[in-house]
Amino acid sequence: MNEANKNILVTNALPYANGPIHIGHMVGYIQADIWVRFQKMQQRNIVYVCASDAHGAPIMLSAEELGVEPDELAEQYTKQHAKDFSDFLIEFDNYYSTHTEENEALVLEIFEQLKQSDCIEKKIIEQAYDKQEKMFLPDRYVRGTCPQCKSGDQYGDSCEKCGATYKPTDLIEPKSVLSGEAPILKESEHYFMKLKKFESFLENWINQIQIHDSVKSKLNEWFQIGLKDWDISRDHPYFGFKIPDEDEKYFYVWLDAPIGYLASLKNLSNKKESGINYEDYFSDNDNCRLVHFIGKDIIYFHALFWPAVLEGAGLKKPDAIFVNGFLTVNGEKMSKSRRTFIKARSYLEHNNPEYLRYYFAYKTNSGIDDFDLDTIDFKNRVNSDIVGKWINIASRCSKFINQHFDNTLGKTIDESLLENFENASDEISELYENREFGQAMRKIMLLADQANQYLDQEKPWVMIKDTKMKEHVLEVCTTAINLFFKLMIMLKPVMPNIAKNGEIFLNVKNLEWQNIHDRLTNHEINDYKPLITRITSESIEAMLDK
Ligand code: 2FM
Ligand code: ZN
Repeated sequence: MNEANKNILVTNALPYANGPIHIGHMVGYIQADIWVRFQKMQQRNIVYVCASDAHGAPIMLSAEELGVEPDELAEQYTKQHAKDFSDFLIEFDNYYSTHTEENEALVLEIFEQLKQSDCIEKKIIEQAYDKQEKMFLPDRYVRGTCPQCKSGDQYGDSCEKCGATYKPTDLIEPKSVLSGEAPILKESEHYFMKLKKFESFLENWINQIQIHDSVKSKLNEWFQIGLKDWDISRDHPYFGFKIPDEDEKYFYVWLDAPIGYLASLKNLSNKKESGINYEDYFSDNDNCRLVHFIGKDIIYFHALFWPAVLEGAGLKKPDAIFVNGFLTVNGEKMSKSRRTFIKARSYLEHNNPEYLRYYFAYKTNSGIDDFDLDTIDFKNRVNSDIVGKWINIASRCSKFINQHFDNTLGKTIDESLLENFENASDEISELYENREFGQAMRKIMLLADQANQYLDQEKPWVMIKDTKMKEHVLEVCTTAINLFFKLMIMLKPVMPNIAKNGEIFLNVKNLEWQNIHDRLTNHEINDYKPLITRITSESIEAMLDK
């Protein structure tokens, strides 16, 4: 089947319902949302889902500390996150949670399939145990001195200083983060997914999907080392789904989390009004594409565990895994003490989400490199490109149409300029498709420069004083408004609200990509109202958490 006609299911990594969203998270969501909006403007059948990742030990422990039930805490964060996303104009078709009936049913079904296809085995293992808290400790809850480089206060799974990986009990003087006591080793029986069985399947599969070369090389390094069987169970106390026929065992959060993508789709398809049929977007036939957007820290889970689970359960595998790098702020890792930690909400309280959407788009390519939010560059870039170049075209000529021509456009002239914009649209469309948003933004801004140069040459503000030139002013302004209109369509995936207000101004509706080829002539428009204001140093300063 032709790629363009396939139904596409797009997902973003599910955020833990255990703390606020920050703008580092927003990189992946904004990138995916831009891509999805672009696809929707091309009239593709696409469903975009996400959910809260509700389970796991950290959520259980935070809830305990706050004296609430873990599901209540998860629900509160789910609501907060959904609001943050929607205020950043991330338009999910469904935002759900992993702590739901649909997810549990799917997890149990998949687990049964995995058992039947001999992908699961039980093994007794020794793990760090906190006697005081009566609980097995996740690796991150044990800290101590790195056995290799001897740096103090390192996590139980890997050393931040030298990169060594080890077992929590290999640490020198290990301590439980919960009680401060030295953990003991205790035996327990666990369920393992036989990941080794899937090595050759996975090695083939990564060559068939869309995945960046640098991610492939990372995966190849892991194949070289060899895959280890994967522990998919956790002992009580834990917040998760219970394993059938076991009293005190739960599925590990990373087993049920990606299944949550499917649960979100299932929940959407259960809503009659959605008109979405589950099998149309997730079944092992040639009609559907499964596309995951994730951060570079969770490649292992999405490109090894998850496809192995799907293969073992006889289900469809992902067709693309698009990975983003991390965000630094003013050259630093986000940190509260350095004033580089920005919560999504703090940003939204002081700045327009579309500024950040544009800046992230401007910085995005298809690779996985980290990128920096330099707050001075951010302010200058947005003010110069969006306000100074694009919006400026409309604000420079709308007043003549509004005041002298009864809000009615005339005919366009300078066809070659208009055609130049139209011809550029194919290349820009390809850049969007390939997630080379930065290149797309630069190309669009070069076109905006051309439109401004056109107005600089024609000078309608001078011509309007000469009544003989009035007709020409109308033609020039009509042409420039048409250039603005074409740029607006090209920028709509990135700045959907400005585009929506632009549609009201131009008296047009629901513009799609193909409308780039339209001309607005002899067409009534509305009074121009400023579409965006400049960012100020004060608003930037205000969003940096105190
Ligand atoms: O790393 C994380 O933040 C996880 N909550 C991502 C889960 S993505 C998916 F698999 F559910
Ligand atoms: Zn070390």
